Amino acid sequence: MLRTLGTCYYPEHWPEETWTEDAARMVAAGLTWVRVGEFAWSRLEPAPGELQFGWLERAIAVLGAAGLKVVLGTPTATPPRWMVTRHPDMLALDAAGRPRGFGSRRHYCFSHAGYVAESQRIARLIAERFGRNPHVAAWQTDNEYGCHDTTISYSPAAQAAFQSWLKAQFAGDIQALNRAWGNVFWSMEYANFTDIELPNLTVTEANPAHVQAFRRFSSDQVVAFNRAQVEIIRAHSDAPISHNYMGRITDFDHFQVGDDLEIATWDSYPLGFLEDRVGADAVRQRAYARQGDPDFQAFHHDLYRAVGKGRWWVMEQQPGPVNWAPFNPSPLPGMVRLWSWEAFAHGAEAVCYFRWRQAPFAQEQLHAGMLRPDSADAPALHEAMQVAAEIKDAPEVQPSQAPVGLMFDYDADWAWATQPQGQGLSYFGLVFDVYRALRRQGLSVDILRPETRNFSGYKMIFAPGMMHIAEDLKQALSQADAHVIYGPRSAARDQNFAIPTPLPPALPGLDVTVARLESLRPDMPIPLANGGQVTGYLEELEGGAEVVMQTAEGAAVVMATDRQIYCGGWLDEAGFDHLVRHYAQQAGVTLRQLPEGVRLRQTAREEFWFNYSTQTVETEAGRLPPAGVLRQAR
Ligand code: GAL
Repeated sequence: MLRTLGTCYYPEHWPEETWTEDAARMVAAGLTWVRVGEFAWSRLEPAPGELQFGWLERAIAVLGAAGLKVVLGTPTATPPRWMVTRHPDMLALDAAGRPRGFGSRRHYCFSHAGYVAESQRIARLIAERFGRNPHVAAWQTDNEYGCHDTTISYSPAAQAAFQSWLKAQFAGDIQALNRAWGNVFWSMEYANFTDIELPNLTVTEANPAHVQAFRRFSSDQVVAFNRAQVEIIRAHSDAPISHNYMGRITDFDHFQVGDDLEIATWDSYPLGFLEDRVGADAVRQRAYARQGDPDFQAFHHDLYRAVGKGRWWVMEQQPGPVNWAPFNPSPLPGMVRLWSWEAFAHGAEAVCYFRWRQAPFAQEQLHAGMLRPDSADAPALHEAMQVAAEIKDAPEVQPSQAPVGLMFDYDADWAWATQPQGQGLSYFGLVFDVYRALRRQGLSVDILRPETRNFSGYKMIFAPGMMHIAEDLKQALSQADAHVIYGPRSAARDQNFAIPTPLPPALPGLDVTVARLESLRPDMPIPLANGGQVTGYLEELEGGAEVVMQTAEGAAVVMATDRQIYCGGWLDEAGFDHLVRHYAQQAGVTLRQLPEGVRLRQTAREEFWFNYSTQTVETEAGRLPPAGVLRQAR
């Protein structure tokens, strides 16, 4: 595969006379791809059944004639106004039971049969018209499933579908559900599946088994919605199909959606994310305000490489200030280039900039593009042109396996959200803290999905926080030819959210039991004996395994039997760094010394260095200015 660049273009926003020049400028800038169509439903079908596909066909012809390859999106993230008149109950309902109304986007409920049928109808019409178009070289379904909190809907349609889903899960046996969920508690027993309501609007917290089941159901609805579009497109086109996921949106199982697609893409807004969803403290936010968090993009690159089974892109790359975060600074000069190269270093086939020209109207009028609203060049255009010139002498994407695997399990993320047990505790946060510790010490990481059973080639595998672990995964991990580091909260629940006995984690070949657990206030960290602290969450461990790390007061925090290791606390940076160093040494994994804000990524034949700091730094590979990138052969 080749490394390529592209952009997101909205021909419906601009006079038709400008398309030819826009296309010529894209080609002159070195772009290969142009994504179109994903929000254009009101122009494709201005009134029910009145199809106007001619303009899109002409736009694709103009772009294609200039030499660009088109990614065509289905427009189902933005149903037009008439759709809501036609299906007034298609809107999702929030947890308070209020409709999430028309006037922006993603205003639909995944369970509404009428809208689901409409989405398949428009996908079919588009696929029939454009499926054999020679310029359509890839597809995108919808846009950013789950963005703006849209996976979960508390609508009557969702309730009915949830009841059927539960009935299938429990083979029609309501007593089996009552037993599995522990509904004897607070007299919550049901007589019929049709008695089951959604877990909102309860007086106090709902049963976690109920909440977790509803989250699993909601994820399945997204998978089904996507799959139906994919099957329709596939019947008319041989081009690969993708979906653009969003950073830190974890409400549906991306691996399962990805199983139906050829390519995973994601939308990378490093500065928006730093302000909005990384979870960095104020000092770190200030230090990286114009660069983005040094690990957040990389984490998602590695995640989507796994979701895409090796094939992945950045579909939307931040080009300058965005409009949607609490603060929206400009990137440091050079960062757009750095972000692009970082994606390539992690195996991206394409990086597409969002968007071609800044729109002078509507919600995103303060969102930068590659061009200003007056069509003059914006800074991102020049950085993209530099990358385009540079990839000419490094054109190939090279697959490679990292020495370290890190498991990521969407189900565990929902389980922690269902029952955090302490304010601010999240599965994503825990996994990301482990990822950061690995990357601070120069390691390249593969994200592993929970269905992985073959771990050959990995020297270390981290599986923190997976609250439910399937028995065959436990077995496979216990037999892996690697150091396997679990915990905290590993295997803490059975499939139905009950505490199993023997007590967790009950991992084969590891004599550790969690006797008790506590969550900690932010102002009550517990010091570790050899530096660092436990923060937020701590388990009391017992059993015959060897104690490897302990608190200053002598309580076991990390215990191990041979290469099976259990960490019973959420550690701070120093604590996780220590854990990584200790086991990297035992596993024969080489660590590197990196200056603050510098990150390293290795592939089979290349080594990349990225400077996210605002200082010029000296590295083993040479001097790196702020936003600097170094690439060398290994
Ligand atoms: C993405 C979305 C785009 C655009 C962009 C702005 O989440 O897919 O359509 O809204 O954000 O940063």
